[in-house]
Amino acid sequence: MAYNTPPMGWNSWNTFGDEFNEKTIKEIADAMVSSGLKDAGYEYVLIDDAWQTMDRDAEGRLQAHPEKFPSGMKALSDYIHSLGLKFGIYSCSGPLTCCSRPGSLDHEFIDAKTFAEWGVDYLKYDYCYHSPVMHGKYLYRRMGLALKNSGREILFSACTIGRDEPGTWMRETPATMWRSTCDISDSWESIKDLTKQQDAILELGGKACYNDMDMLVVGMRGKGNVALGGCTDTEYKTHFSIWAMFGSPLIIGSDIRNMDEATKAILTNKELIKINKDEAYRQVIKLTAIDEDVPCYARMLDNGDIAIGCFSFADSDGLARFTIDELGLTESTGKTLELHSLWDDECLTITHGTFMHTIKAHDCLVYRARVVDIK
Ligand code: GLA
Repeated sequence: MAYNTPPMGWNSWNTFGDEFNEKTIKEIADAMVSSGLKDAGYEYVLIDDAWQTMDRDAEGRLQAHPEKFPSGMKALSDYIHSLGLKFGIYSCSGPLTCCSRPGSLDHEFIDAKTFAEWGVDYLKYDYCYHSPVMHGKYLYRRMGLALKNSGREILFSACTIGRDEPGTWMRETPATMWRSTCDISDSWESIKDLTKQQDAILELGGKACYNDMDMLVVGMRGKGNVALGGCTDTEYKTHFSIWAMFGSPLIIGSDIRNMDEATKAILTNKELIKINKDEAYRQVIKLTAIDEDVPCYARMLDNGDIAIGCFSFADSDGLARFTIDELGLTESTGKTLELHSLWDDECLTITHGTFMHTIKAHDCLVYRARVVDIK
């Protein structure tokens, strides 16, 4: 099955690390429904590393940790499915996972079959301890084939933690997404760093095999496994805008059982989610900016509109500026752009082909732009 838009969901790693159990995950699944996240499009509940025991069973199968998951994985998956959500699990292409549990190397087909029996809908597949003598592409082709032949539709989320240029070869495997970055942390520096890494790989974006910029930290507020000082609401808003506009899968990492209103408003911004899920899934264009700390990007949308975002990485207030010539809209066309902000009611028309706007430190300006006649 081809996945026509980037997946959306929640993953245990950012908040819980290796400390989660069936009660936590069920509560998260409940919160996904009651908070309105499911209605906003989030559908996968994903358990990351450390759900397993330290050893395989006598038949060589992976086993759920009996104290953390006393009812077993099938029961958890049934519960998640009963809420109309989908269930995802984690494994690794090496002999061990990043948390040193048994990895899937040389057990790919038996593991894929086990996951299918448990009702798994999504597999995140990591890259720790991978073989130094075998290129990662063979390992991801192999697990991709194992999943495809498991008897169940399972989305394959390939995570080489950004290593070995996955964007240049992952599209040839059955993967639906590939992690372009190292691990995110809940800090502005990390958001800035992961965004800047994208400039070199914008042309590798594309439909059905999505560039995964890593899980969101929106709403973590400095608490949890990847906490590193936390971010302000403005920074979380900019982070979400970038991930959504760049077409990254939107996988929440905060504890949604205690979600505050600001976090919810960010994670459920309908217009941004619509841009994230735009059917055409065009690659992102970097526009020429006057200030390299305030880059602006555009993305052509399926209905002829354009998504435009300017993001401030500057530590003081500044100016966002770009020209629409770069989008082909010179004055000779008789056309300009009408910009509708995706965060407030602002609506403005670009005159003389140039957009110039004040922008607060770490903030963003994100618009859906419509092509209109010059008046
Ligand atoms: C790697 C991945 C993370 C997480 C951990 C789990 O670091 O990049 O997203 O899955 O492993 O051990």
